[in-house]
Amino acid sequence: SENQKSKIVNPQSQINRVGIIGGGTMGSGIAQVAATSGCKVKLYDTNQAALDKAKGSLEKILLRLIEKGRIDTSEKDRIQANIAYVSNLKDLADSNLTIEAIIENLDIKKKVFSELESYVADDCIIASNTSSLSIASIAASLNKPERCVGIHFFNPAPLMKLVEVIPAIQTSTEVLEKAIQTIKDWKKVVAVAKDTPGFIVNRVARPFYGEALRIYEEGLADFATIDHSLKTLGGFRMGPFELMDFIGNDVNYTVTETVFTAFYFDPRYKPSLTQKRFSEAGYLGRKSGKGFYDYDKNGKIIET
Ligand code: NAI
Repeated sequence: SENQKSKIVNPQSQINRVGIIGGGTMGSGIAQVAATSGCKVKLYDTNQAALDKAKGSLEKILLRLIEKGRIDTSEKDRIQANIAYVSNLKDLADSNLTIEAIIENLDIKKKVFSELESYVADDCIIASNTSSLSIASIAASLNKPERCVGIHFFNPAPLMKLVEVIPAIQTSTEVLEKAIQTIKDWKKVVAVAKDTPGFIVNRVARPFYGEALRIYEEGLADFATIDHSLKTLGGFRMGPFELMDFIGNDVNYTVTETVFTAFYFDPRYKPSLTQKRFSEAGYLGRKSGKGFYDYDKNGKIIET
């Protein structure tokens, strides 16, 4: 149908073979986005179970989209046929763009990047989806650091419109422009951000959580009241405490601590002891069944 044809982009960026490194939450979502836009995608992970899971969850997601009448079976087949699941990094050799979404550890990322660079062509763009590491430090692991750029998706990647594109000080103008065009080809909205801790969204979000936690810690209001105010009066879809529970108090705390440290302990980004204790106690939020709220086994808040 016309509707379906319009989804297959004519890639102005000329990026059509995409290698994704890491098939977890983010990598599998990014693979879906690229494949939907007509790119040939290879999704690489060292862990076969992660690849199986990525494949299985894409099947479920696409079946749900069929149920909702958003796609038909030929569209589902087309998207799935565009993704190959591979367990050798070398299989990514013919990519013209790679996006890395593995564990947030600089040493491990650097090792993977320098191996990857030995396989791919000179003009292959090597991007990272990192949330908290500097793109400059990742680019420095390459012989051609000018080909490195940050391409930061939000979770869940297929649903979130915004993508931050982050040039490192080493990144060439051509690579930056191609990255921006690719993300536009993929029907996403680009925000170009500087290579600073938290980029734009994760930085703006720190005081949002931090101030809510401080209001709670000072006893000015309980967390349910704060959430209620922001949702019913402020128009937010989720209150800050619901959102922290959703993201995971461990993950959210770590991001705040990283941004705080990276900004030389600027008190604006000071982490919360309340959240640290929650994290230490295993009150991680939705994923552990208990956080600021209690959750049933379907992840719904148990109203008290
Ligand atoms: P995840 O834990 O769901 O997935 C990571 C995957 O990488 C796993 O499947 C693991 O087997 C694989 N992996 C680990 N080491 C590897 C290696 N050496 N070679 C190949 N595969 C390897 O993690 P998630 O949440 O997808 O995060 C990935 C990256 O994306 C991180 O840099 C994170 O900071 C960033 N990010 C995460 C967001 C989120 O909300 N979860 C949002 C935006 C960025």
